[in-house]
Amino acid sequence: MRGNPSDEMRDRIRGARRWLVLTGAGISAESGVPTFRGAGGLWEGSRPEELASPEGFRADPARVWRWYRWRRELIRGVEPNEGHRAIARLERCVPELCLATQNVDGLHERAGSRNLLELHGNLLRSHCLEGCSAETTEDPEAAVPLCRCGAPLRPSVVWFGETLDEQVLREAFARCERCDVCLIVGTSGVVYPAAALPGIARQAGALLIEVNPEETPLTGLCDRSIRGPAAQQLPAWMRECGWEEEPTPPAGV
Ligand code: OAD
Repeated sequence: MRGNPSDEMRDRIRGARRWLVLTGAGISAESGVPTFRGAGGLWEGSRPEELASPEGFRADPARVWRWYRWRRELIRGVEPNEGHRAIARLERCVPELCLATQNVDGLHERAGSRNLLELHGNLLRSHCLEGCSAETTEDPEAAVPLCRCGAPLRPSVVWFGETLDEQVLREAFARCERCDVCLIVGTSGVVYPAAALPGIARQAGALLIEVNPEETPLTGLCDRSIRGPAAQQLPAWMRECGWEEEPTPPAGV
């Protein structure tokens, strides 16, 4: 009964207090943002290590900046979809929800999600390659924008071979260790440490639900797999769980 919820599962979902939602590129696919892997993905025909690694940046920073500026333009031209909005609504319906996203597109925030951990950073920000903390305005005309200290600026995303922000990662693991439900949406589940989060939740006894048109390495861990695109499936799943509308704000607000 992987595809349909039992009454027991629905009761467990409605009674759950602590939620951890893990998302990947698939949640933004229906907004028009390409995923990384598979046909038409960002990594098709390109070498990730040239575009998304410290070595690639040092070898050709202008090329890397061209790619990130193209992605920024793309993101500025799209809107959050019904999947992003369903997750933002879920946060308002349940007592405690933490959203850990691997996405760097900022669409969850634009959809209204508040308790958000950006595991891989944010594409719209930049910082000094040498790590200095000078306040700098990024020059949009420069092929490689520079920090006030003279070093190149780089996009504030996590590249291959780099570690995730320690505090963000610690918080994500802690949330998994104590969540009642872990909802996994639109990730291939192959990039670590993010891909390890559902296993932590499973060990902690959480119910695991996956939304993805394809089977993934995480599917075997899940109590339920909802096969299909997130922008369609998440609102339908919310209705099925009985969250039809926005929760009523508490009296006096
Ligand atoms: P991937 O491109 O690896 O996987 C996207 C997943 O989304 C696949 O499992 C698809 O089946 C699924 N998918 C596609 N369309 C969907 C839809 N409409 N609704 C729901 N799911 C859909 O992307 P990620 O798992 O996010 O890291 O990749 C993880 C990390 O690898 C990224 O954050 C990025 C990349 O290299 C860095 O850049 C550090």
